Amino acid sequence: MPLKKFEKHLLSEKWQESIKDFDCVGSKDNSNFEKLNDFLKNEALRYNQENYSRTNIYLENGTCVAYYSLAMNAIKDPRINIEDDYKSLKSYPALFLTRFAIDKRYHKSGIGKAILNEIIKHAYENKEIASKFLFLDAYPESISWYLGNPLFTILYSDMAERIEKCCEARIIKELNVRLKKGYELRI
Ligand SMILES: CC(C)(COP(=O)(O)OP(=O)(O)OC[C@H]1O[C@@H](n2cnc3c(N)ncnc32)[C@H](O)[C@@H]1OP(=O)(O)O)[C@@H](O)C(=O)NCCC(=O)NCCS
Repeated sequence: MPLKKFEKHLLSEKWQESIKDFDCVGSKDNSNFEKLNDFLKNEALRYNQENYSRTNIYLENGTCVAYYSLAMNAIKDPRINIEDDYKSLKSYPALFLTRFAIDKRYHKSGIGKAILNEIIKHAYENKEIASKFLFLDAYPESISWYLGNPLFTILYSDMAERIEKCCEARIIKELNVRLKKGYELRI
């Protein structure tokens, strides 16, 4: 999906009206996704002001259809699959996708994939600061979607326990394959 048709803005007080009806929950009750709605409406602006994350919103006709929040991170996990020349680094630079949600009216329209690609592209091309990895702490309900992207894998295997509670066997099998393959989530 081309993102050009949407306006993109850093969240500020000016956009309060645009975000007030944002809803990423969809048909089923989901308290995790409710948290994503709540964060956008009640906390994201403060996080922007206090430098705990940056939230950007996508608007169509003045209404928010998607948002994501980014912060810096450093991955210290020695199991990460990294080139020999860089193995001695104490940590590896990562961009942290702290929150990501699409309004339910746009689910499965391709906008999530397009935005994720844009985030990765911008991180890769950034001339000021390098990120070797894109890190995120996915809700178990969203894991299957992220696994649609071959760049992603699972860093923390304790996730498996959480995932087992809500994912189908096919997804758990795919997770195990990626865990065995190694930690190749570089961008
Ligand atoms: C998860 C989310 C960000 C995905 O965005 P989206 O715009 O609905 O997804 P897209 O339409 O871009 O998906 C594109 C691809 O993923 C596939 N897909 C969509 N939903 C999927 C799902 N639940 N599981 C697996 N694959 C899925 C599509 O079939 C499509 O595949 P293709 O490119 O091979 O045709 C969005 O649905 C959302 O906001 N969900 C609620 C909040 C959430 O889960 N946020 C992430 C928190 S970690």
